[in-house]
Amino acid sequence: MGHRRAADRRELDPIEIASRDEIESLQLTRLKWTLRHAYENVPYYRQLWDQAGVHPEDVHRLEDLKAFPFLTKEDLRRCYPFGLFAVPREQVVRIHASSGTTGKPTVVGYTRNDLDTWAEVVARSIRAAGGRPGDIIHVSYGYGLFTGGLGLHYGAERMGLTVVPMSGGFTERQVQLIQDFKPQLIAVTPSYMLAIADEFERQGLDARQCSLEVGIFGAEPWTESMRREIEERFGMDAVDIYGLSEVIGPGVAQECIETKDGLHIWEDHFYPEIIDPATGEVLPEGELGELVFTSLTKEAFPVVRYRTRDLTRLLPGTARSMRRMEKIKGRTDDMLIIRGVNLFPSQIEELLQEDARLSLHYVLEVRREGRLDELTVLVEARPQAADPEAREAAAQELARHIKSRIGVSARVVVKEPGAIERSMGKAKRVIDLRRLQD
Ligand code: DLL
Repeated sequence: MGHRRAADRRELDPIEIASRDEIESLQLTRLKWTLRHAYENVPYYRQLWDQAGVHPEDVHRLEDLKAFPFLTKEDLRRCYPFGLFAVPREQVVRIHASSGTTGKPTVVGYTRNDLDTWAEVVARSIRAAGGRPGDIIHVSYGYGLFTGGLGLHYGAERMGLTVVPMSGGFTERQVQLIQDFKPQLIAVTPSYMLAIADEFERQGLDARQCSLEVGIFGAEPWTESMRREIEERFGMDAVDIYGLSEVIGPGVAQECIETKDGLHIWEDHFYPEIIDPATGEVLPEGELGELVFTSLTKEAFPVVRYRTRDLTRLLPGTARSMRRMEKIKGRTDDMLIIRGVNLFPSQIEELLQEDARLSLHYVLEVRREGRLDELTVLVEARPQAADPEAREAAAQELARHIKSRIGVSARVVVKEPGAIERSMGKAKRVIDLRRLQD
């Protein structure tokens, strides 16, 4: 670790280190434009805001945005596929979509300028991660309707890196190309990075000897435990990248390599708020709640107060003047309530790291037995603890820890190495069988 130096201040976009006043005044100008643009060109927004009795001309300060109604995934479904586009369809040069677990996908569109903005914020993110022109980046995020692959791709090209557009899957091949092309950077989901680490081992190779110096990980919640595991196994720096299709894709926020203290939101393009998910009330800086975004420059698909369902808190800037968001704690959708106790997969992940016998390949299963919710933690043993007795002992100990530290009773099953299915993109951590039982 520590292969990479931070970007020199002269290499940054001036706005990244501008004063708060400058940033906020730019935000206000752009917010007013966005609201007018959405109101004039998207009948759905006009109707929504008319009904709520708000109007773009009411906004004189950033805080005035509070009066506007939220936009939710439901609204996006109602407008499927192109109903929220604010430009004629012919000006939309790219479509992406995220599958979602049920029903229709969420569709988003980009004008040529939007693609330009996107490439720019991803380039900025790669620079914050320690990437430099001339580096090679291996992109294992999926290419296609998912924004991960193409998002990183165009940002890396914009910065002047050599891109290897590997996409997800073919794990053996991933290792071979890393060995042969010697990339300094990799962009991939953290869960799939662990599968790649296992494949290095399976081939008898030492991942610490490979060329990788920095990994840009995101698209799913991951913990500090996961960071440590990846950094140790590869001898690399692991930094966090955040984004969502509705807002643009990857590159909404990025952690800086020199501080690794949460992700700077590129606030000149995306305006964040934190709300209480139950009441919708805006919370003061520093409090934990649901992240809400308003796009400030998007043409084809402006979003105003979009509820992300991601839980985090806003913190002041450090390496950049733009505010940070803490590592995502979880999604409101992934929060389990087990006999009244709230539980996120990340809490289990943190406990797994403490036991050298257990890997970070895991899933949580919830079912209803009688009227009670039962949680089963399925986790894979590491190769050195693969025999049944060792696994049983580890299972009992983990169940005890979950009870004492989180306060829920769980059944723990420690499986043999390789027994938990690997995802090639976003890992599915929760299998909720209660939905099937209803
Ligand atoms: O996952 C965009 C992306 C691609 C981000 C590659 C980073 C890297 P969606 O498929 O629309 O877009 O999913 C968005 O993924 O609301 C979060 O719940 C989750 N997510 C994304 N990045 C992170 C992260 C892409 N760094 C949803 N930490 C978001 C935690 C993340 N969760």
